[in-house]
Parts: sequence; C-alpha cells; structure tokens
Amino acid sequence: VTKTITKIQPTMYGVFFEDINFAADGGLYAEMVKNRSFEFEAPMMGWSQPNSDRHSLNTRSGFAKTINVSENKTNPNFCSVLVNDDKGYSLINEGFRGMGVKKDSKYNLSIKAANHNGAIKKIVFQFIDKNKKVLGETAIVPTSNDWQTYTSQFVATETEAKAQLKITFVGSGTIDLDMISLFPEDTWNHRKNGLRKDIVQLLYDLKPGFLRFPGGCIVEGRTLAQRYQWKKTIGDVDKRETLINRWNTEFDHKLAPDYFQTFGLGFFEYFQLSEDIGAAPLPILSCGMACQFNSGELVPMDELNPYVQDALDLIEFANGSVDTPWGRIRSEMGHRKPFNLKYIGVGNEQWGPEYIERYKVFVKAIKSKYPAMTIVSGSGPFPEGDYFEYGTTELKKLNAEIVDEHYYKNPKWFRDNATRYDNYDRKGPKVFAGEYAAQSVAIASPDNKNNWECAFSEAAFMTGLERNAEVVHLTSYAPLMAHAEAWQWTPDMIWFNNLEAYGSANYYVQKLFSTNKGTDLLAITKDGKPVTGQNDLFASAVKDINTKEVIVKLVNASANPQDVSIDLKGSNLQSKGIVETLTSAKLDDVNSFEFPKKISPTESEFKLKNKNAQLSLPAHSVIVLKLKMK
Ligand code: AHR
Repeated sequence: VTKTITKIQPTMYGVFFEDINFAADGGLYAEMVKNRSFEFEAPMMGWSQPNSDRHSLNTRSGFAKTINVSENKTNPNFCSVLVNDDKGYSLINEGFRGMGVKKDSKYNLSIKAANHNGAIKKIVFQFIDKNKKVLGETAIVPTSNDWQTYTSQFVATETEAKAQLKITFVGSGTIDLDMISLFPEDTWNHRKNGLRKDIVQLLYDLKPGFLRFPGGCIVEGRTLAQRYQWKKTIGDVDKRETLINRWNTEFDHKLAPDYFQTFGLGFFEYFQLSEDIGAAPLPILSCGMACQFNSGELVPMDELNPYVQDALDLIEFANGSVDTPWGRIRSEMGHRKPFNLKYIGVGNEQWGPEYIERYKVFVKAIKSKYPAMTIVSGSGPFPEGDYFEYGTTELKKLNAEIVDEHYYKNPKWFRDNATRYDNYDRKGPKVFAGEYAAQSVAIASPDNKNNWECAFSEAAFMTGLERNAEVVHLTSYAPLMAHAEAWQWTPDMIWFNNLEAYGSANYYVQKLFSTNKGTDLLAITKDGKPVTGQNDLFASAVKDINTKEVIVKLVNASANPQDVSIDLKGSNLQSKGIVETLTSAKLDDVNSFEFPKKISPTESEFKLKNKNAQLSLPAHSVIVLKLKMK
C-alpha cells in the first residue's frame, strides 16, 4: 500500500431506486390501501364487496360503483356506495398482498366523503384477519353533504401480515367516497404521506453517496404516453395522476396486473428522501424515447421541446429560488431551501443514433442555462457490443461528462472483469456503473438468488471500481428492492414483506464498500501489479482523511483459505485496528426473513506488527481492514 493516486468521489457508492417489484406503492411508500382513489384501470381493483347483490333491489345490502367525472383529469373517479342499513354490507380493501399491522401500533386513517342528505350516520373501519377477526377499529361521522376530508387514528390489537381493511356503514342511502388512505403513524421522520421506516433505515445505513430515481425502464414507459412525467408527481397527493406501471404484467411467472403508480412517492418526496439519507439526488428523465425493449416509440425531433423543458423546469424546481415559478412550488410543498441538485440524467437505457440526436438537444439547452449541472448519459442495456461501442464513441466525441453503464451478468463475469476500467481513457467521460448485479441463473430469471457467490463476486468487481476511482465516479446495484410476494425481477438488494425488511448478502457487500469508501485512493499491488484475481485474490485500498484511517479491502474468491501479508510501511499507523469479515460456508447461502443476518459482517480487533498486516482470509470472503493513522 503506497501513496494517494486520486480522490474518491463522495458519490462513489449510491443507490438506484426504481418502482419495480412493488418498491414504491406497496413498498417504500407506506400507504396501506391499494387503489385508494379508485383510479386503477379496473376502478374497483383491490376492493371487494363480499355481501353485495347487485341484482336484487330489495334484499341487497348495498352496492358500490365508481363514477367517472371525466373533466377532472387528475382524479376522475370516486366510489359511490348505496347502503341498506342492517343487511351487513361492507367494502373491503385487500392492501398490497395484505396489510402489515403491528400490535399496539397506531394507524392514521383519512377519507374524503360526500354524505348525501346525511344518509349515513357513521362509517366504521376495522382491520380484520382472514378469519374476519377484528384487529382494531375506529369510526368517523360524515357530517357534510359536500366533499370533506375526515381523519381518525386507531390502534392494532395484534400483529398480522395479511390484514385487510373492512369498511361498514350505519344508516341507509348513498355516500360518495374517495382517497381512502391509511398510513402507519410511525413513518420515517413521522411524515404524513410518509415512507416505511424500516426500509429507509436500511438505505440510510448504507450512507449512500447518491440516490438515483425514478428508474430504470419506468422513466421511459412502454409507450411515450406511459413515460414518467415528474410534473404529474408533485403537489397535492390526491391530484397526482395514476399511471399503469411499466412493470405491470411484464414477466409471466409473476404477473402483477395490479401494479399502478399513484405517485404518492413523487419527485418532491424523492428529493426529500435523498436529503434525509445524505445522498446527492440524481433524477433521470425521459429523453423522448419509450423503452426500446417495448414500443421504442420516438418523439419527432421537432416535438422534443416539452421533454427538454421538463428537464429545465426540474432543475428550477430543485434549485430555483422561491421567486421562480417552480422554486415557489417546491417551497409551497414545504421545502424553502433548494435541494442542491448537481446531476441530471438524460434517458435511461437508450441506444443508437436516435438517442445521440436527442441527447445533444438536451445538453445544449441544459448547459446554456445551467452550465454547472453535470449531465449523465446512457449507453444502452449491455456493457459491450455494437450499440455500446457506437454510443460510447459518439458520447466521447461530444465530451460527455458521465456515461451510465449497465451489466447484469453471471458471477464469473464479475470476477473476470475486475480489470474492466484499468485501461479506460482517463481524459474521456467518467463512468456511472449505474445498474449491476450478478445473476445466479440468467438475467432476471425467476430462479435467481441473492446468494453468497453472487455477492462476493460483486465485491471482487467492486475492488476494480474502486481502484479506478479516477474514472468511475458513481456506482449502484440494481434493482434496489422487492416485495417478496410481488416481484417481477430477481435478484434484488433488499427484500421486504408487509411487516419486515432485510438486506441480502449483496446489501452487506454494498454496505462494507459504501461505509468504508474513504477519500483518497491508495495503490495496493502484488509483485508491482494491481491485485485483480491472481490466486483468486482481489484488493483495493483507500485512506480516509476525515476518520484518519487507512482501509484495505480484500476479496478471497478461492474455495481455500489464504494467508496474506500486507506491507504498510508507507503509512504512519497505530498498531490497533479492526477487521470486518463477511463470509459464508456455502456458495448458495442466502439471507432470508427467518435469518436476515445469516450473511453479515463480523468485527474483530486487529494487531499490526512491524507495519506488516498478517491476515488469514477465510475461503470465499470479503475482508475490510481498518487502521487508524497516527
Ligand atoms: O433494473 C431492472 C431494469 O434493468 C431497469 O429498469 C432497466 O434500466 C434495466 O434494463
């Protein structure tokens, strides 16, 4: 280990968020009611009326139908319920594969209602389990003929992963309902319209350098009409226009016909989350090309302007003063201070001349108004091949600043490619390794596992990212998270159900690198060469001028333990240090809800003798050695 080579960017290790696998609605976004505003394609999706008979006027207990007010573009549907008292009518919401409720926890209910002629005297809300047992309840009295919001709080009496919300009515007549919403009180930072605390905590613990949002392919949409439009995701939650998710029914092994985006987690909330977890925000916007794996629809060049304007307005929304139109909207939403946006991505995984043509227009417009903004460009879905060569060559000619590369490959590829960036042009564009994950079976196969082989192979590769910090400025694993019962893509870094969340083995690899990223890259060599797989060993080293540490990362990808000796003579170090060890007995070991930390680091003390670190690396292990500088 010798002298500083280059600075490590604070953004080196970040997170890539996409609303895939129910990551937003049904996941991070803590709303428990599915289709709360009756805006899904089938407006009663998620709702049932078990005791309703629409055919018999006299005997029916009640009946709910949705009414579409088409001139109301952002919230066209509401639900109109006709109730015959005492006949046992109820409306039930199933949640996102159920609702997770915790004993003694409080839940905040909110509902809009218009009670015609005061027909309904009371509305009762109950958590029920599959046997209809009541697990907590509350009620509201709808006093107004006109639309009015009513709120209440209630407590769950038991813990249940698959509760449902049952709504019953006292009185006879018609009542209109909308925005039936339920959140745990205990969201991250106790925010209304908040995020799941346990999931944000996992992100926070990573100390991510950036948060990329909102995707992924959802940026692009299957068609241009279905692209992600940030302006439709801000302002009042009930006025955000619902959109079918691009991952709705993508793979036939786990159909998700109920996958829609309500945008309760919208761009304001993404910026706020970035701030909360100390990550630089990195939004990616549509560049006028729909997903090239789907329609590949293109906006004509002479109609590109609104897309470009969206980018300019987003920068104003994030950074503009309260005297600018978009800065004022941000301030009115509760954030007077700018969000300090420094990066913006143009297009997700686009390729070909069509991309370059559009990209140029964005760059010209953004740079002429915001010269300091760093633009991230795409290079397509594969880290090699004709399109990749074409795109990266063109982008280089255009002096692109950062190019986003994606790789979903087998574990061996990751071990074999630890040298990928060793010969990248230091004067060319910087690299954003924006989406990567080792695939244990095949790309996005339903049988992929977040197993230990994948995780340590990524670690081996990451030593290569780190050794090349001069050119690699941002990196992120993808996808970030998945609902255990509603995923479309594996593997994923964080898994959750309605009650719990855990980090995979890959999560702990990311965490080890991210929380030990350092500030300065040091050279670590064996026989004068970087350690890139000789004897299945991989290594990188950094110094942290804030914590005053030298940090060495080692990966032993061999099936046998290996002893190593590290010469640290160049550094003035204290003799006591720490070793963090991440390992597991079998290549196919995984973390799970049952054993969430089966593969997680253990820490032990380390004694440095004569400035020589002697380490015994277990078979298949990732080791981080930390030594304080004097
Ligand atoms: O991470 C899953 C998908 O993989 C992303 O949406 C897309 O960018 C890539 O193809």
